[in-house]
Amino acid sequence: MGTELKVEKKLGCGGKCCKLMLYSFNVLFLIGGITLLVVGLWVALSQTSNQVANIIETNLYKAAAYILFIAGSLVVVISLIGCCGAKFENRCLVGMYFALLLFVFIFELISGIIALACYTQAEGFIKGNMEDSLVNHYGSSEPGMGNITEGWDYVQEEFECCGVVGNASEAIRLYSTSEWGKSSGPAQVPASCCVRNGDDDITNMAACQSGDISQINDMGCYQKIRDKVIQYATILAGLGIAVCVIQIFGMTFACCLFRQLI
Ligand SMILES: *[C@@H]1O[C@H](CO)[C@@H](O)[C@H](O)[C@H]1NC(C)=O
Ligand SMILES: *[C@@H]1O[C@H](CO)[C@@H](O)[C@H](O)[C@H]1NC(C)=O
Repeated sequence: MGTELKVEKKLGCGGKCCKLMLYSFNVLFLIGGITLLVVGLWVALSQTSNQVANIIETNLYKAAAYILFIAGSLVVVISLIGCCGAKFENRCLVGMYFALLLFVFIFELISGIIALACYTQAEGFIKGNMEDSLVNHYGSSEPGMGNITEGWDYVQEEFECCGVVGNASEAIRLYSTSEWGKSSGPAQVPASCCVRNGDDDITNMAACQSGDISQINDMGCYQKIRDKVIQYATILAGLGIAVCVIQIFGMTFACCLFRQLI
């Protein structure tokens, strides 16, 4: 009887294999979690995203960054539980790990579907907000609107764009309908719209502001920002799918180890 108990406590070959795999997958998972966490923090704190948030008049962008940060932290905690469970062959920890992973997996699926569904609606909404902030608030001296002007100038310089959508002529047209256009005198676009040389100096300010379209950034900021967002979103989606696959393996090995640890 005593010897049987001892035999039961030792992991068999399959169990050892599961333990090793669970441990290895959790190291990968941990790296993925730290990456998500850092990306989320970086997006939330970067100057570009703060300025973009000012001109799109919504905190959608920041909300996404915080969700990434929270998801990353959660992944880090869960993978540590998984690693400890495997290392100490603790059945309770392995069971807890499995349950948490299943919960996160379902949460990820649901939020992925919601994000996809919201994406098309967010596009029109953001474009409308940008037009509103440019036409009604750019250059405004009303209190609290200074950030919008600063945000637009930053974005137009950083993304080498002008206006919301379309080419330089479209941007001139949009600025001519704006509050700023009423008091800008002969200037047709703000200096931040002007084409710059390699040293970041405006090539020809006079021509630019008098409406020479060859001296004005020839693409709307909405398109430039969207391209950037899609670029990052593609990387994140790839990372997300990789994490999901790792999770499925993690759950499988956790289940296997759980059954071996009696
Ligand atoms: C403007 O920006 C500053 C810092 O960048 C912030 O403290 C302030 O709350 C912002 N104001 C508005 C109205 O958003
Ligand atoms: C700019 O866009 C408008 C509207 O789409 C178009 O009519 C015009 O020809 C374009 N201008 C140039 C220089 O491409």
